Amino acid sequence: MPIPKLPIVILISGSGSNLQAIIDAVEENELPVEIRAVISNRPGAKGLQRASCAGLRTEVVDHTQFDNRTAFDEALKHSVEQFEPRLVVLAGFMRLLTADFVNHHLGRMLNIHPSLLPAFKGLNTHARALAAFKAGEIKNHGASVHFVTAELDGGPVILQAAVPIEKDDNPETLAARVLGSEHQMYPQAIRWFAEGRLRLQGNQVWLDEQALDAPVLFAPDDD
Ligand code: GAR
Repeated sequence: MPIPKLPIVILISGSGSNLQAIIDAVEENELPVEIRAVISNRPGAKGLQRASCAGLRTEVVDHTQFDNRTAFDEALKHSVEQFEPRLVVLAGFMRLLTADFVNHHLGRMLNIHPSLLPAFKGLNTHARALAAFKAGEIKNHGASVHFVTAELDGGPVILQAAVPIEKDDNPETLAARVLGSEHQMYPQAIRWFAEGRLRLQGNQVWLDEQALDAPVLFAPDDD
């Protein structure tokens, strides 16, 4: 019996390379989800073209058209809800979300962040990681998939990929390698959720009925 497909909505702001990795995984039958819509807060986001090319429904909720964050989040909530997703996937979505929006989707919203959380929350993670590397404080950078909670980049982490920093890295070369890991890692975490193996209870992540005491370290061959 095929596993029923989990309805999801993906939120983006920019290039959408993580979105593309999810689309590719779905097309290769590696991810039992139905992408009901891709929603961007930026009308010019390249990810919207990727979605259209894949035949997906797209919507724009342009944050510049709203007076404040609450009004934007209300409109975004309305846009998301019409597709009745069981999971909301933030894939390079670069707007802070209100506690109301986050709590409405608690336990059913994932984000990917380009650092080994809790290190380097927020923006410019690659430049900050390089500075820490040069100061001898770290050897690895990476990315994390986490459940979204009201604390910015602070929700419980599910999966992490470590990316060694090279001496001659600059923020762009490092970002490109981290992004490569993101593309492999994000579909896997979404698949765990779609297969009913992953859940959030309180502040605790459960995977395969085990409470995680630390994030899973991503290895490409993990099932
Ligand atoms: C990715 O590196 C993602 O981790 C990051 O934005 C990039 C989006 O790339 N997200 C954040 O920084 C969220 N705090 P993409 O549009 O090509 O997927």
